[in-house]
Amino acid sequence: MIDRPPGSQAERREAPLAGKPILEVLAGRKAARTPVWMMRQAGRYLPEYRATRTRAGGFLDLCYNPDLAAEVTLQPIRRFGFDAAIMFCDILVVPDALGQGVRFAEGEGPRLDAISDEAALAGLRTEIDLDHLRPVFELLGTLRRELPPACTLLGFCGAPWTVAGYMIVGRGGEALEAMRLIAYENPAFVDAVIERLTTASIAYLSAQLDAGAEAVQIFESFAGSLPPVFFERWSLKPIALIVEGVRARHPEAKVIVFARGAGPGHVRVAQETGADAVGLDWTVDPGWGAATVQPMKPVQGNLDPLALVAGGEALEGATRRILAAFGDGPHIFNLGHGIVPQTPIAHVERMVEIVRGG
Ligand code: CP3
Repeated sequence: MIDRPPGSQAERREAPLAGKPILEVLAGRKAARTPVWMMRQAGRYLPEYRATRTRAGGFLDLCYNPDLAAEVTLQPIRRFGFDAAIMFCDILVVPDALGQGVRFAEGEGPRLDAISDEAALAGLRTEIDLDHLRPVFELLGTLRRELPPACTLLGFCGAPWTVAGYMIVGRGGEALEAMRLIAYENPAFVDAVIERLTTASIAYLSAQLDAGAEAVQIFESFAGSLPPVFFERWSLKPIALIVEGVRARHPEAKVIVFARGAGPGHVRVAQETGADAVGLDWTVDPGWGAATVQPMKPVQGNLDPLALVAGGEALEGATRRILAAFGDGPHIFNLGHGIVPQTPIAHVERMVEIVRGG
């Protein structure tokens, strides 16, 4: 990183970032102390989340209720004092706002009315219905008013390949094998779905930034299910187009890209997408990440969510290894995937304590 003399023009221009450690890191600088937040930090491991979730009714009802969604976004901030709040929503509101049926069956995960060919795609909207997503933008406005000043407000969307998986197969998990087969058999159809999602994501993320998001994260959760031959075409390029499209409207937009299972492809995420920071999943060795990815871009990650469940020495050792590996450069501490429901709250408290020097 370039050291700037105190009082220089560059330093004055950066002054508004002071006090927001996540924005410091996204600007490419090592923060005075390592900032921390967790993917899926609002969720079922918290009793107060479960209570609000019951009041809301269905999961999508919670996503589209700005008051209750603000409440669950703020719950982990109050408890743990995280440096970022991620708006409470889901990546699958995008297919919903394109007119595809989306349901969250209790205990089963998401279910969509799968679209398996061009004719089915033609039945969806060509442009995302931002009006349908108005509660999300209202939520962002509320959060900007209510968050503590040092806490950065994050918006997000899923990357096109990941969302296309749900749209085409109708669900996640093992069923995604089917997506790989369709990719080989009908790449033109996959191109068409990805293109629609790329355009929709640019509009959606831009609207989030208009509404108050201070940075956005793109979740490529299924990077690991993408045949290497298609990684560039369906992951790197669409993400790069989204980043470019968002920056055409918001030149200062800060973007984190998390490509789970990308392996050595994390380097290409750093080089080819225009991301300001690269999220590393828990399979990435911190020493490799520090030597290879961090010299190119600030990194975020990458504690194994199951080390957090285990606690004790597994948690202490893994957390300290990550801090030691990334400590000399710009780093946002996070998990290497979302927190799981059986995580003890005391383990999250201990993780935050260690990151903050305890
Ligand atoms: O991080 C946060 O706290 C913000 C909210 C958030 C949710 N989902 C809430 C949620 C975010 C950022 C997401 C992203 C998301 N959603 C991803 C990408 C990240 C990842 O985990 O890989 C994906 C793949 C989805 C799709 C999705 N939504 C799945 C697979 C599930 C079911 C999983 C489960 O744990 O049941 C959801 C539902 C969901 N999204 C829940 C939450 C808190 C649990 C629903 C409930 O309360 O019953």
